[in-house]
This record gives sequence, structure tokens and C-alpha cells, in this order.
Amino acid sequence: MELLNELRKRSKTINATIVLPEANLDKRVYLACQKILKKNLAKIIVFGKPKDFGEEFKSNNCQIIDISKFKRLDEFANQLFELRKNKGLTLSEAQKLVLEPGYFAMMLLKNNMADGVVAGAYYSTADTLRPALQIIKTKPNKSLVTGAMLMLKYGKKPLVFADVSLVENPTSENLADIAISAAEFYKTLTRKTPKVAMLSYSTKGSAKSEMVDKVALATKLAQSKSTFHIDGEMQVDSALNKAVATKKGIKSDVGGNANVFIFPDLNAGNISYKLVARLGGYTAIGPIMLNFNKPVNDLSRGCTADEIVDTVVITKLLTLF
Ligand SMILES: CC(C)(COP(=O)(O)OP(=O)(O)OC[C@H]1O[C@@H](n2cnc3c(N)ncnc32)[C@H](O)[C@@H]1OP(=O)(O)O)[C@@H](O)C(=O)NCCC(=O)NCCS
Repeated sequence: MELLNELRKRSKTINATIVLPEANLDKRVYLACQKILKKNLAKIIVFGKPKDFGEEFKSNNCQIIDISKFKRLDEFANQLFELRKNKGLTLSEAQKLVLEPGYFAMMLLKNNMADGVVAGAYYSTADTLRPALQIIKTKPNKSLVTGAMLMLKYGKKPLVFADVSLVENPTSENLADIAISAAEFYKTLTRKTPKVAMLSYSTKGSAKSEMVDKVALATKLAQSKSTFHIDGEMQVDSALNKAVATKKGIKSDVGGNANVFIFPDLNAGNISYKLVARLGGYTAIGPIMLNFNKPVNDLSRGCTADEIVDTVVITKLLTLF
């Protein structure tokens, strides 16, 4: 939690404009915007008519855009058509899509009129991320967007879990990329050394199956592509407890000391972070989407206004990555 306070301080020094496309659709987003403006945490863009918003939104730090009256709408529609025509999108479909808050927000980002987007309290993950995957795409040196969760608890070291929200059934290559991206994220955020556990129900060949082979190969690929401390395949008790790790043949210092946990598929990742949060008392911040060309973050539909504020803080930090 000390980390969260430090991140809030670091984020305040960054001048970035974040789009919250659901402020007129969801009370929690509206409340989060009020908090952001009151505490001067970010410049924001919201959608709707000025009459939909209270006094505190009449601030130099807030822009209210009525999408249907936006002057560059035709230009945005043409841009979207050009971007997606080889995928079968027609101009009339593009003209309809840019009126949707999710697509319009991505076009603002694409046109450098904003620095990040935070959405997903109202819309589903798929509806939030699809426009971003189609329009914003990955950073030039990355090919996969992945969803990581920052897990925080007083007195405990911060942890990162990935993938928890996007890549349903990753290949070994995908898992290796997820591991490296999560390690980079951990290092940038905490300024500490990431120790990455590639998780399975097997430790170093204790069980044999295609599911285990996938994680073992991913470990080799991740090790060959980076200099991070990465080890696996291993069970989660080996990742958490040094004595168990030693007993099960883990020789590296990842055993018992892991702080980045890579899950074999989205079922495992999504279930695990919720178990650790609900039963273990950790606060889950995210999912934080890594590797987008510009930061786009997806909220959980069960999120609180404070979690939305924290996601805006992290989104501002991601503008520096
Ligand atoms: C996000 C999601 C909807 C995208 O799948 P989709 O709508 O079927 O879209 P596609 O697979 O056609 O992908 C759309 C585009 O995104 C790209 N894409 C999809 N996943 C990607 C990833 N992880 N990284 C980079 N690009 C990706 C595709 O290559 C495609 O690009 P293109 O259209 O330019 O060729 C899908 O991955 C999904 O549903 N994931 C699970 C999300 C979820 O429900 N999470 C709940 C837990 S919070």
C-alpha cells in the first residue's frame, strides 16, 4: 500500500489527459471524476451534454464532449474506415462506430487528443478492449496485449499476476511474452527486481502432460528472450515457500521469492487473483493492460469509484512506459 501512495505521488507529476467514456453512464465513474478533479489528479475528458454534469466539471482540467456534435466526426470516421477497410469495415459502418463512446475514445487517443483511456465499469471487457486492439494496437516491439493485476497488502511485498483478463488460452510463445511484459511492468512500477514464477500443477517435470509441457517450453522461451529471473514450471507453493521449492528441485532464487506470477491460462489467472483478494485480503489494482501503443485500461464491472481513481493514476504512469 506504501507503493500505492508512492505511485499517486509519481502520477501527480505527470501531465496527462485521460478519457473516461462512461462518466455519463455510470455513477461510480461520475464520482471518480469528481474525486479526480477535486484532488487535481489528472486532466480528464468525459462524454455527454454539459447539463449532464455538475459544477465541479466546469474546470480547466475537464473537457466535456458531446460526440454527436464533435466537429471532426467525419474525419474520425474516414480514419477508422481507412484503418479497418482491409478487415471488411465499410464507410457507413465506420460512421456508426465512431458515435460509440468506446470507439470515439480510441479515435481521440489515436489523434493525440488524449493520453489514455479508462473504461469498463459499464461496458464489458470485450467491448472495452476490442476497439483498442483494433485501433491503438501494440507497441512496435510487442505483439501481444496482456492484462496484469497489481496485488497489494499492508506489510507485504507487491505482487503482479498475469494474464488475468485478456488472453484466454495462451500458447507457450504467448506465455513467454506475458512473463517478460509482466516483469518489465513490475520493475518499472516498484523499482525492484522481478522474480517470475511460471505456474503449473507440476514442478520441474513432477507431472507429465501437454499442459505442463506448454509452461515448461514457455519458461525456456522467456529465459532465452530476456535476462530477467524467470523459472518454472513450478507449483504455486514452490513459488511462495523456499523450503518447498528446494525440496521440489527449484535451484533459482525465484523459488520461495516470486513476486511475478504467470498463470497457464485465463481461468487460472482470473480465479487466482480473486481468491487472493477475497480470502487473502489483498487489494487488486487493475487489470492493467500492458503493451498497448498508448495506455487503455479496462475496469472490472464490480469496481468502486476509488478503484477507478487508482486505475487513472496507473494509466497516467503507463504514459511514461
Ligand atoms: C478481447 C477479445 C474480445 C478480443 O477478441 P475478439 O473480439 O474475438 O476479436 P479478435 O480475436 O477478432 O481480435 C480483434 C483484433 O485484436 C487483436 N488481438 C486480439 N487479442 C489480442 C492481444 N491479446 N494482443 C494483441 N492483439 C490482440 C486481433 O489480432 C485482432 O486484430 P485485427 O482485427 O487487426 O486483425 C477476446 O480476447 C476476449 O474476449 N478475451 C477475454 C476477455 C474477457 O472476457 N475477460 C474477462 C475477465 S476480466
